[in-house]
Amino acid sequence: MNSEVSSRPAGGFYVVGIAGSLRRGSFNRALLAAAQELAPATLRITARDLSTIPLYNADLEENGLPGPVVQLRDSVREADAVLFVTPEYNHGMSGVLKNALDWLSRPPRASALHGKPAAIMGATPGMVGTARAQDQLRQAFIFTNTFAMIQPEVLVNRAHEKFDKSGRLTDETTRQFLSKFLERFEQWIARFRAQVTS
Ligand code: FNR
Repeated sequence: MNSEVSSRPAGGFYVVGIAGSLRRGSFNRALLAAAQELAPATLRITARDLSTIPLYNADLEENGLPGPVVQLRDSVREADAVLFVTPEYNHGMSGVLKNALDWLSRPPRASALHGKPAAIMGATPGMVGTARAQDQLRQAFIFTNTFAMIQPEVLVNRAHEKFDKSGRLTDETTRQFLSKFLERFEQWIARFRAQVTS
C-alpha cells in the first residue's frame, strides 16, 4: 500500500484531482484547490500535476511507460475516485487533459479508469461554464467505462469575477454549491465502494 492510500481518512475516501490546465494562474487549478479546501473531512483530495506528462505515443508505451505516466496511473488506480477539472478550449476539453486521459485509458478494459467513480467540474471566464468540454469528457468516459456523477454539475462561468488575485474562490454562492457537490460526490463514491466490498 502506498503512502497516499494509507493516508485515506478513517471511514472516508481518497480522491485524485486532475486539472487540465498547466497555467500558473489557472481558474481550473484554483477550482480544484477550492474543492480540496471545502471537501468534507472524510474526502481527501490530492491534486496531480500534468506538466510532466509527455504526449501520448504508442512507441513509448511499448518501450516502457514514462515515469510520470506510471505515477499518474498508479495514483489513479489506487484512488477511490477521480475528480476531473476541465478548462474549455474551442468547445472541447483541453489537449492537456485529453492527453492525460489517453494515457490513463490504456490498456482498454483494464485501465486505471475502468470502473472508477469520477466527478467533473470546470471554470471559464466565458458564459457557458465549460458545459461543452464536460460533455466531451463524458463521451470519452463511455470508452473508458468511467462512472462520472451526472448531477449536480459544477459549471463555473465568469470565473474572473469569482476568484481573487491569489486564486482563492471568493464567490459565496459558488463555495456553497461546491460544498454540496462534494458531499454528493462522497455519496456517489460510497455506492461503488459498497458494491466492491459486498
Ligand atoms: C479558450 N477559452 C474558451 N472558453 C470557453 O468558455 N469556451 C471555449 O470554447 C474557449 N476556447 C478557448 C480556446 C483557447 C485555445 C483558449 C486559450 C482559451 C477561454 C478559456 O476558458 C480561458 O482561457 C480559461 O481561463 C482557461 O482555463 P484556465 O487556464 O484558467 O484553467
